[in-house]
Amino acid sequence: MAQDLLAGISEDYYQISEAVLSSFPKYRLPLDLYLLQEKVVQLVLYSKKDSRLSNEQVEEISRLVQEGLLFVSRADHPIYSKHIVKQLDLVLLDANLKEAEIADIFLQALTMRLEEFFEQPVKPAFERLHQDAMVLTEYLWADKHRIKLFMRRLFKGDHTLARQTLNTLAAGLWIFMHQKGDELTRPELNNYALGFLLHDVGMSKVPSFILGKTTQLLPDDRDKIHKHVLTGAQVAHKLDLMQQDIKAACLEHHERLDGTGYPQKLKADRMTRMGMLCAVADSFAAMIQKRPYAAAKDPLQAAKELMEDVQRYEKQYTAPLYTALVTGEFGKSVPLGKAD
Ligand SMILES: [Fe+2]
Repeated sequence: MAQDLLAGISEDYYQISEAVLSSFPKYRLPLDLYLLQEKVVQLVLYSKKDSRLSNEQVEEISRLVQEGLLFVSRADHPIYSKHIVKQLDLVLLDANLKEAEIADIFLQALTMRLEEFFEQPVKPAFERLHQDAMVLTEYLWADKHRIKLFMRRLFKGDHTLARQTLNTLAAGLWIFMHQKGDELTRPELNNYALGFLLHDVGMSKVPSFILGKTTQLLPDDRDKIHKHVLTGAQVAHKLDLMQQDIKAACLEHHERLDGTGYPQKLKADRMTRMGMLCAVADSFAAMIQKRPYAAAKDPLQAAKELMEDVQRYEKQYTAPLYTALVTGEFGKSVPLGKAD
């Protein structure tokens, strides 16, 4: 009986951990707390959000949370997740969040960090992005199937650089983790994650009036866009990122196997694994979003087109992506913020 009641509680409420509690302002908590009355296994309102707490109450809360008796309502999840987004490492300490909630928190946090980084691609912004990226790889490393949560949450609306980058990250990491299987190492996972996050940073320096053009681009516009790969590699260099995989992601993601890409018109034999993989992931990410010059494609259709384009895209990366989408391996897609 008590177990049933507890199960009901865990659906609507979650236990608040010491780590999360201590990250909130001590004397004014932004959400209601509920106290578990053990004898009747019932939650009662303990303190109201935003009320001023006395020293005695703060001490009592600290004791109760250690005993595991304090809960917050899932109705307050937006407040809770907004808080965690800014201190993402808390997500790993919180055993009470559902995987879907965690994936949403990661996407919100990384969107915020990327937007900040693209606005000013300098060291302090990169360090914040880097820190959050490492929390993500730690989370994925602990259970490699979790990358599928991100494939269910691809951004399909209007194109933004941050959203396209996160789509590239999800698709690129899924393909890479799928390919490597048990041979995956943590340093590789870290480097690939950073490579996908940084591959298009050079685009942040291309004037937005060029990117927004719906008419044919002028040769001069095209030159400016093509330069973004070199600009990206320079940004990575300035940030002291010397990993080959990161450099290759920036420099090679517009190269194509048959030498029709840019900037160096490299053919397959001169492209790196990261270059080929990032080309697939970046193209897939772009195709499924609405861009000024093209409508969004369904992910399955985009993957099919890439797989059939064997002249330009590496089939060992496009085929597993297509197969996974056909067989529904990622499950039903979920818009950000909605439950699975
Ligand atoms: Fe690019």
